[in-house]
This record gives sequence, structure tokens and C-alpha cells, in this order.
Amino acid sequence: MLQNDLLLRTLRGEKTERTPVWMMRQAGRYLPEYIAIRNKYGFFERCQTPELACAITIQPVDIVGVDAAILFSDILVVPQAMGLEVQLKENVGPLLPNPIKTVADLARVRVPDVDETLGYVFDAIKLIKQELNDRVPLIGFAGAPWTLLCYMVQGKGSKTFDEAKAFCYAQPELAHQLLQMITDTTIAYLKGQIKAGADTLQLFDSWGGLLSPADFEVLSLQYIRQIVAAVKDEVPTIIFAKGAWHSLDKMAATGAAGLGIDWCIPANMARQFAGNDIALQGNFDPAKLLSPIPVIEKEVREMLTAFGPNRHIANLGHGILPNVPVDHARAFVNAVKEFRFEH
Ligand code: CP3
Repeated sequence: MLQNDLLLRTLRGEKTERTPVWMMRQAGRYLPEYIAIRNKYGFFERCQTPELACAITIQPVDIVGVDAAILFSDILVVPQAMGLEVQLKENVGPLLPNPIKTVADLARVRVPDVDETLGYVFDAIKLIKQELNDRVPLIGFAGAPWTLLCYMVQGKGSKTFDEAKAFCYAQPELAHQLLQMITDTTIAYLKGQIKAGADTLQLFDSWGGLLSPADFEVLSLQYIRQIVAAVKDEVPTIIFAKGAWHSLDKMAATGAAGLGIDWCIPANMARQFAGNDIALQGNFDPAKLLSPIPVIEKEVREMLTAFGPNRHIANLGHGILPNVPVDHARAFVNAVKEFRFEH
């Protein structure tokens, strides 16, 4: 039995004594304890070594007191398992030196056996569950197929992912073959995460907002729908499609238990679009954590009031920035934990 199951109860729509809180990318560079491990091991070495992934996953639980742990890994381990080389360039970001552009390139990727290629993630999850010892739930995750396609085709980070979009619009059949392969891999991968002990799952569609509502349906949502359908009866699933507020209603209809939202949509509008039967997660502007602490505390109270006491998970609207002071991150978490709604 979990000692703190606020997140899971909120995802089930139950009333809770207070709003649960965690932060996207909470295991990362703003923590000196993470930097200490980072200085010794390469990025994928940290992902592939269960003891390191476990230590990093638990850091924010101990140091900032969040109500959930999120597996330390990366969305790009899936393209790697599918056969693409993925590098992480320090202070630059991901680099895939041989991206997918043609039919011949697509022949290089496969739907892998996830136990063989991603078994280290399942081992990390088992170890994390053991070390967490039921203090808080563990969130597993994967990238949504559209966001993974962006990196697999563009080959690196981008503000527009114009080459990935051009690939989809110029060679739609190829794009859909690739999206389906990513989807099939992701379903097997997430089922493996559940089997290993993940309590809930989040799908990151970081680049969903680059698509028009119609293209979001075709290139992203129809694949997200398959993934949610495959796992939702086993664990509650959260969809975070940054910028895709126009499709909150459709995302809610997938059977997901929660929807992540960014700071560009007000709480009442998100609730109106998503309906009342789903948890909303968000939506503090990550850059606001650079404000003075009293401002963070005031704005957290405003955020909590705007979402109200039911079906809200406090979080940032995107990942925490590496230059956020730890005491500001802690102030964010504590402000949520101290807040109570009037009865
Ligand atoms: O949330 C967590 O704390 C768990 C771990 C986690 C990482 N990446 C670790 C990481 C999660 C959930 C991710 C997801 C991820 N990775 C996304 C989706 C979420 C989002 O932020 O939009 C995306 C798009 C990626 C791809 C990726 N990985 C990028 C673009 C980068 C470089 C830029 C950046 O933000 O650092 C990474 C590297 C990465 N993944 C780091 C961490 C802690 C930094 C690596 C380092 O230590 O230098």
C-alpha cells in the first residue's frame, strides 16, 4: 500500500485532502546531486544503469518533496531501441546522425523485442519501486509517436521541426508506416513498464502544438488513441500534448485519466474543453520559478484556486529549467502542499 497515493486518487477522480504536486523533468540539472552523477557518467550510461537511474529518480522525492517519482530515462531510448543511433550532446541536445528521410532509411528501423532492447528500463523500474518502498507512486513514460518522429526525421532539436513536417506532408505513406512502428514499439514498452511496477504513465507529445488541429488528429492523436486504449485498463494514463489545447476534448475521449496543459490556456477554459471527468495537470510557467519566492507562493495559490479542489494535479506547464534554484523548486512544491481549500 502506498503511503502517499494522492496522485493516483486524483487520477481516479477521488476527493483528496490536498492537491498532489510533481514537476516535469524534476530529475535533472537544477539539482546539484544530479550534476554530481552527471559529471561521472554519460547520459545513456545513466539511463542504462539501473542503480544510477534509480538514484536520480529518487533525488527529487528526497530533496524537494514531490508527491510522485518519475522514472529517469529519456523519450529517445525508443528510437535507439528501434535501431537508430542517438547521441546526447552536452548543452546542445539530442543528435541522430542518420535520420529517416527515405524508404531505404525506413528499412533500417524495426519494431524491436523490448525485453532485449529496453530491459534495462524495466530493471530500473523494479529497483526504483523497491527503493521507494511505497513512499510515493512511480510514473513511467514514453514519447508520443509524433514527437518521436520529429526527432527521428529531423535528426536534432528544432523550434519548427520543418523537415519532419515536410516528410509527413511529402511522403505520408512512409510517415504513417513509421508512426505505426513507433506506436507498436511504445505499446510493448509501456506494457513492460507496467509489468515492472509503474503505477501510472505519461505520454509526452512535446511537439503536438506544432500541428494544425486537423493534422494533430491524423499525425498524432490516432496513434495516441491506440496507445491509451492498450494500457488504460491497467494503469491511469496522462497525455501531455504541449500546445494542443484545441484537442483537449478529443484527448479526454481517449480514455486517458489526466491531461497535461501548458500555461498558455487558463484553467477554466481547459476544464471547459476537457470536461469534468478527467484530471488536469499543470500549468505553472516553468520560467516563473525564477521569480522571487513570495511571488512563486502567491502565483501557486492563484493557480490552485483557478483549478479548484477536484481533479487537479499541480505541475509546471513544461519541464523545469536547469537554472532554477533548488529552494525555488522547493518553494513551489511546499506552496502546493500547504494550501487548503475553504470548506
Ligand atoms: O522528468 C524527469 O525528470 C524524468 C526524466 C526525463 C528526461 N527527459 C531526462 C533528461 C524525461 C521525462 C524526459 C522527456 C523528454 N526528453 C522529452 C519530453 C518532455 C519535454 O521536455 O518536452 C523530450 C522532448 C526529450 C528529449 C530530450 N532529452 C532533449 C530535447 C534533451 C536536451 C535538452 C534538455 O532539456 O536537456 C534531453 C536530455 C535530457 N533528458 C536531460 C535529462 C535530465 C538533460 C541531460 C543532461 O544531463 O545534460
